[in-house]
Amino acid sequence: MDKKTLKDVDVKGKRVLVRVDFNVPLEDGTVTDDTRVEAALPTINYLIEQDAKVILMSHLGRPGGEVKEELRLDPVAQVLSNKLEQAVIKTDDTVGDEPQEAISRMETGDVLLLENTRFNPGEKKNDPEFAKQLGQLADIYVNDAFGATHRAHASTAGVADYVDEAAVGFLIQNELETMGQAVKNPGQPFVAIIGGAKVSDKIGVIEALIEKVDALLIGGGMANTFIAAQGYETGDSLLEEDKIDLAKELIEQAEAKGVNLALPVDVVVADDFAADAEHKVVAVDGIEAGWQALDVGPETVKNYSDIINQAETILWNGPMGVFEMDNFAKGTNQVAQALADSDATTIIGGGDSAAAVKKAGLENEMTHISTGGGASLQFFQGKALPAVEALNDK
Ligand code: 3PG
Repeated sequence: MDKKTLKDVDVKGKRVLVRVDFNVPLEDGTVTDDTRVEAALPTINYLIEQDAKVILMSHLGRPGGEVKEELRLDPVAQVLSNKLEQAVIKTDDTVGDEPQEAISRMETGDVLLLENTRFNPGEKKNDPEFAKQLGQLADIYVNDAFGATHRAHASTAGVADYVDEAAVGFLIQNELETMGQAVKNPGQPFVAIIGGAKVSDKIGVIEALIEKVDALLIGGGMANTFIAAQGYETGDSLLEEDKIDLAKELIEQAEAKGVNLALPVDVVVADDFAADAEHKVVAVDGIEAGWQALDVGPETVKNYSDIINQAETILWNGPMGVFEMDNFAKGTNQVAQALADSDATTIIGGGDSAAAVKKAGLENEMTHISTGGGASLQFFQGKALPAVEALNDK
């Protein structure tokens, strides 16, 4: 780690502004998954123990630069307070008089949470004025929001220019070190499993991984575009017609590199995109009009499990099917189980695959589950993370 880390800065008695990723799922004002709050605790607890004044900030959802009552961070402050077993001061504004006054009253060991950074139109624009206002609230900036490291926003990147010191927190450090080791020096066979709805979201990562892996297993809605690229009918399945040629190119690239690009041989088709739709398993050359592929089939799962079984390192991003609906969750669950059963180093790249692993109750069976979806994808491509780049070098 060539960036300053939390242990490299003297935080005693200082106002430390920590960017966390508290972008958690909410249902009727209740946090339904607190993984990201839990993941921020090592940094927060360390700062409390070191007698710092801990000022936290995060985005929540995509409010578009204006106040949206349902996206206030109060429910998250409550969850954090329960976990820390201490009061968390919550401000209604992100910058300005109210947070400034609340911070001036803080004692060492206190924890304060600023309001949703994305209520300010300057956040996503990385507006220097907003970044400066944030920086003025503290002496030291610590970024621990791994899930937002691919965003160059005022609270993730710009703010680093307006504090005395800017360092990386324990969560980001752990994510980068664990995933860095697995990706840069993978035990072989190195297998990547890429799923999710669209090829267009994953082109960069597929191209980058073809250079590195021994096998690439494709599932999810994006597999349909590869099925079409092989000349099969896809019925009413989700299909990116403008990406069929690209899928052909990726198949050729993999062949040229000697990479086993594994595609579904069978799929679960349904007569509607609905949890209770009529459904059946068909071979990929048997998808009829009026039916849509919503999961990979049992033969495919068997093929993929055999490859997973042989692997030393496995990277997984994106579900194999519509795992939110039980009838189309088998492929994803069985792939998760194959990973859990394998002796390989298993890295789950955040987002839906992390949710699927948790839903299957297999989170303790994996080597690492990233808290970042988009961020881990960017990392797997070997691209810089702007919110880490912005921090001070050691
Ligand atoms: C995430 O949930 O992946 C991060 O918090 C980033 O959120 P965003 O995609 O809205 O920037």
